[in-house]
Amino acid sequence: MERPSLGSLAILSCAVRLIIHLSFLQPMSIELAGKIAALKKERTAVVLAHNYQRPEVQEVADFTGDSLGLSMAATKTSADVIIFCGVDFMAESALILNPSKIVVMPTKAAVCPMAAMITKPALRELKAEHPGVPVVSYVNTSAAVKAESDYCCTSSNAVKVVNSLREKKIIFTPDRNLGLYVQRFVKDKELVLWPGYCPTHQNRITVELLSQLKREHPLAEIIVHPECAPEVIDIASKAASTEGMLKYCRESPVKEFIVGTEQEHAYRLRKENPGKTFYTVPGAICPNMKKTTLELVARALETLEDRITLPKDIIEKARVPLDRMVAIGRGD
Ligand code: 13P
Ligand code: SF4
Repeated sequence: MERPSLGSLAILSCAVRLIIHLSFLQPMSIELAGKIAALKKERTAVVLAHNYQRPEVQEVADFTGDSLGLSMAATKTSADVIIFCGVDFMAESALILNPSKIVVMPTKAAVCPMAAMITKPALRELKAEHPGVPVVSYVNTSAAVKAESDYCCTSSNAVKVVNSLREKKIIFTPDRNLGLYVQRFVKDKELVLWPGYCPTHQNRITVELLSQLKREHPLAEIIVHPECAPEVIDIASKAASTEGMLKYCRESPVKEFIVGTEQEHAYRLRKENPGKTFYTVPGAICPNMKKTTLELVARALETLEDRITLPKDIIEKARVPLDRMVAIGRGD
């Protein structure tokens, strides 16, 4: 009998993984997962997915993580094609860090509204108001804004990045909540903030909703993302990036958690902590993260559309702050 090839074994293992974890899914998803596995091999492609992606998309991904982890994974891959399942700034960062690769988003309609809250002209104006002050931009920014920045950071390493600078005054854009969170740990520096915010974390994750969940589950610990408002962070036991939350819950003896971030993050939290219970905040959804579907992942592999492109000079300039962010590494 002919021995099965490595490729067919990989397709089989992907399908089995999907059946085990997602037995509730439609048979259509299992069929698509098989098709995606075959196309990945054909294209020498890797699928990267953010922790807020739909469960079935996470299941076909080669790597699932937070913004920093995804940037790091993008720099390490030997694949020719990166299929990026997340939002615009994440896919752009993957291209900036790997300009020789083909970076494709299943849909370019998946954009981060916070990233659009600061523009290159606005940042230039802010820099002119504070001459000589270095700029740290959250990775949730456009490539053009990164090109105007000295450092990038994610929620995992924002404190570490700011602390690495010797200057006492720093422009921090665009997330005001993250900036205020960093300021709690960096008392000897003044952060010049920008009024940007994440609509999901700012408007959907409130003290009222978390307190209601806490009344229903008094033994549960509240964990939140630092994009939440300061008063929300005040009532939490822990604020961390999505990957930081995974680490915290894994290492904690606590058995129940109220998760103050996008609902889908509970998928990995539950999968990796089967003995623990996670309660999500009703309505805490990032609509843009939900735009990527399994069908669109398959289409992206077939057509290599929507391909991410950026002007060469922007890539060169934006690479400097992004390289610094990756070099500084995780902070939580
Ligand atoms: P993480 O880097 O913590 O995954 O967060 C990204 C993001 O967009 C949160 O809204
Ligand atoms: Fe942007 Fe908020 Fe969605 Fe994260 S959750 S991608 S910050 S809109």
